[in-house]
Amino acid sequence: MSGQLGTTENPLRVAIIGSGPAGFYAAGQLLSTGDPVVTVDLFDRLMTPWGLVRFGVAPDHPKIKSVTRVFDRTAQMPGFNFHGNVEVGSDISHEQLAAAYHAVLYAVGTPHDRKLGIEGEELPGSVSATEFVAWYNGHPDYAAMDFDLSCRRAVVVGNGNVALDVARMLALSVDELSVTDIADHAIELLRASEVQEIVVLGRRGPVQAAFTNPELRELADLELADVVVDPADVELDPASAAALADADMTTTKNVETLTAYAALTPSGKPRRVVLRFLASPIAIEGDQKVEAIVVERNELVEGPDGSLRAQPTGQRERIETGIVLRSIGYVGTPLPGVPFDDRRMTVLNQDGRVLDSATREPLPGVYAAGWIKRGPSGVIGTNKKCAQETTALLLEDFAAGRLPQPSISAEQLLTELRTRVDVVDYSGWEAIDAHERALGEPTGRPRVKLVSREEQLHRATVRA
Ligand SMILES: Cc1cc2nc3c(=O)[nH]c(=O)nc-3n(C[C@H](O)[C@H](O)[C@H](O)COP(=O)(O)OP(=O)(O)OC[C@H]3O[C@@H](n4cnc5c(N)ncnc54)[C@H](O)[C@@H]3O)c2cc1C
Ligand SMILES: NC(=O)c1ccc[n+]([C@@H]2O[C@H](COP(=O)([O-])OP(=O)(O)OC[C@H]3O[C@@H](n4cnc5c(N)ncnc54)[C@H](OP(=O)(O)O)[C@@H]3O)[C@@H](O)[C@H]2O)c1
Repeated sequence: MSGQLGTTENPLRVAIIGSGPAGFYAAGQLLSTGDPVVTVDLFDRLMTPWGLVRFGVAPDHPKIKSVTRVFDRTAQMPGFNFHGNVEVGSDISHEQLAAAYHAVLYAVGTPHDRKLGIEGEELPGSVSATEFVAWYNGHPDYAAMDFDLSCRRAVVVGNGNVALDVARMLALSVDELSVTDIADHAIELLRASEVQEIVVLGRRGPVQAAFTNPELRELADLELADVVVDPADVELDPASAAALADADMTTTKNVETLTAYAALTPSGKPRRVVLRFLASPIAIEGDQKVEAIVVERNELVEGPDGSLRAQPTGQRERIETGIVLRSIGYVGTPLPGVPFDDRRMTVLNQDGRVLDSATREPLPGVYAAGWIKRGPSGVIGTNKKCAQETTALLLEDFAAGRLPQPSISAEQLLTELRTRVDVVDYSGWEAIDAHERALGEPTGRPRVKLVSREEQLHRATVRA
């Protein structure tokens, strides 16, 4: 290394961990600064980039995935390098990265499910949306999972957009699914599904639902399913009615949509999506596997912070079902060597600067962005602003001389890594991508996903 830091001869070297929206937005922002000159090494534990854009976003929402064109442009920028199939924490440690880069930025997402903490949650047939979504989207770690859809009713717990995704995937026809990039194994299982009724349970009321408007409205377009809402569920308690008067447009429109659903007479389609409110699961019952979920009716009471909270009324109901899909949010997990906030279940940070667990002072050169920084909420675009806040602080720390000087070169680290790990670079991913798209072309699908790591590695390495 020679010359002043942040120049073409001696660029600022940043490692970004995680190639989802937060990682890619951060990479694009750093690479386009011009001064200082930055190089970005973007690591992902998978051989395929894009995080939840590939493994979360519903297959029947292809337009949302077009954001990957922005990420592709970032990948073509000078100074960008992708290192897929490298898991930080096992293939390479935080300490190794910190020794080789001026800054390390974590954008690893929050990959696990929040628990309900009720009896029967671990019974076969009680599954997390996290698993189900990753399975139907062809995530290699979940491709071998199996779900028993031989029951008549499925229950989805939660009132967020993920719950709606899961409900929709169970309600869509095979014709609707087979033009998407859903994993082939999922089409096969869903083809044989006997589920006729999908009950979505919200613990609070329509005013508190976390759905966004298009996602709620599109339920009306399902080819095979009617949407059912009990008119009693859209009769608001006085506190919710008052909250609605001050509510944002999203909530107002959601309540309008739900009220319109409640006025519908089912048209006799073979499936039903039933949206229920003010019902909390209190137990999942079954002998060897899920047979029913017990819910308790809630009423809403004002909490100390002024928000309306669910309070049980003691009125219980047993709903027979063979599968419970828990969709109550995601949580982050600690990475070895990176301070973790056990309360928020994120990397311990302030505005994206990672903090020392003991002193609560910024750890020089360590940053976070995306869901692992602020928790599992927000759409893809939210991560752009979030990454911007972090990269601005990183550049501010650079300008103030607060970044540590690496003790080894990144080339040394990467050379050693390649002796142990089949690192897949961006052209390796492009070979996987081209192959998947070619597989989809004859049947008009955007792609047919390769779901095994072996197959992906083969495609990434056989390219000309
Ligand atoms: C089911 C679902 C559907 C969604 N649908 C939409 C939608 O339709 N529209 C919308 O706008 N938003 C949607 N969102 C929200 C959106 O996906 C998130 O806001 C966004 O993906 C969060 O970005 P991220 O980069 O923080 O995390 P992620 O997208 O989760 O990316 C994290 C990346 O880090 C990698 N990683 C994790 N651990 C390691 C490690 N130890 N070493 C190396 N790499 C690692 C992962 O493999 C992954 O690639 C959806 C979310 C979910 C859960
Ligand atoms: N198409 C899209 O744009 C799209 C698709 C999918 C996801 N996303 C985004 O991704 C983010 C994550 O979505 P998400 O659906 O996982 O999370 P979310 O929006 O936070 O919703 C979580 C839901 O779980 C409920 N919940 C939490 N704990 C519960 C419990 N113990 N019992 C019963 N219910 C419980 C919450 O109810 P309370 O409100 O009562 O806590 C809430 O309804 C969101 O920002 C979402 O908008 C977007």
